[in-house]
Amino acid sequence: MNVSVELGERSYDVVLSDGARHQLAAVIAERAPRARAAVIVTTPHIAAQPWFDVTSGIEQHLLTVVDGESAKSLDVLETLLEEVAKFELSRNDVIVGVGGGALTDLAGFAAATYLRGVALVQVPTSLVGQVDAAIGGKTGVNLRSGKNLVGAFHQPIGVLCDFETIATLPERERLGGLGEVAKCWLLEGGFAAELTEVSLHDLIVMSVKLKAAIVSADEREGGRRALLNYGHTLAHALEKVALARDDDELRHGEAVAIGLAFAVRLAEALGRVDQSEVTRHDEVLEVFGLQRRVPEHFASSLLLEAMSHDKKAHHDLTFVLAGAEGFETVRGVDPQSVSDVLEKFRGEP
Ligand SMILES: NC(=O)c1ccc[n+]([C@@H]2O[C@H](COP(=O)([O-])OP(=O)(O)OC[C@H]3O[C@@H](n4cnc5c(N)ncnc54)[C@H](O)[C@@H]3O)[C@@H](O)[C@H]2O)c1
Ligand SMILES: [Zn+2]
Repeated sequence: MNVSVELGERSYDVVLSDGARHQLAAVIAERAPRARAAVIVTTPHIAAQPWFDVTSGIEQHLLTVVDGESAKSLDVLETLLEEVAKFELSRNDVIVGVGGGALTDLAGFAAATYLRGVALVQVPTSLVGQVDAAIGGKTGVNLRSGKNLVGAFHQPIGVLCDFETIATLPERERLGGLGEVAKCWLLEGGFAAELTEVSLHDLIVMSVKLKAAIVSADEREGGRRALLNYGHTLAHALEKVALARDDDELRHGEAVAIGLAFAVRLAEALGRVDQSEVTRHDEVLEVFGLQRRVPEHFASSLLLEAMSHDKKAHHDLTFVLAGAEGFETVRGVDPQSVSDVLEKFRGEP
């Protein structure tokens, strides 16, 4: 199955199948016909997986960087670019990112910046990577001051989502990915009962189609792309509070699930939807096995502060909320309502 991201001359296909990684040489031959060399960027952990065999069809170099989020640093980027330069990669050549979202963010940013931009193919191997990170052209690294503070938009020439790779994904990573999948399912109006008829592969395809359609309509997040932030206002606050405590208990997708359960309760409190929408959300999250509770030790006051850009006044709370017209970005949500719903939500049985 191919899903197209439509961006004029920069359009590309997301290939979704068992064995999609074997399309690498074909994508390079078609989309970067002048490429002479490919640098495959991955991690030792990914390179050790049984399915790891990627063939570019041209001269090929393998570079590994540290596994996980630590790869997204300017230090790692610098070392990587120095290595790429040693291979004398030219403007016509290709960088290929193989790994989870952290790796594809780093490889993407390396491709965006080396010689002011070389061709990029992403081979996302985690669920988060396949349904979210590798699609849409956002690339970047973290600063000590915060996540994703340095980056660039750089669209790949192809994305290869190989279902065979996610077979080796640890359970916790899979669950985190399901948080984003649940978000897409809820944005698409899906019910829990329908989930019995769909496979994980169908769900990945559904999520990729949604992201591809939204990115095609709004590459730079002026409008519709912001809908993909559904559940993320509280999720980012949970992550920020956890990070400040060096607390690794919540994966991003798990925080998103809590954020989704919260957002629908906020929409209900604001009179935008009725109880049936809350039930729809709860049932979907339940089927995915996702926790909805805000953990005890995340104080509402800290979360409210983390959700607000204006730390003192809390006047600029923005949420994606369900409503009569579907989902939309709502700005200037009353802080008291947010705080009340948070407290009430905590008290739920
Ligand atoms: N650019 C975007 O639009 C975008 C969107 C969402 C998330 N992200 C970024 O993605 C990152 C999170 O991605 P993630 O959840 O994939 O985490 P990750 O990249 O840290 O991967 C998690 C772990 O799973 C391992 N792994 C990946 N695929 C595997 C496989 N098939 N088998 C066994 N192990 C495997 C990784 O090596 C790593 O140890 C964050 O940095 C986030 O900011 C970016
Ligand atoms: Zn997310």
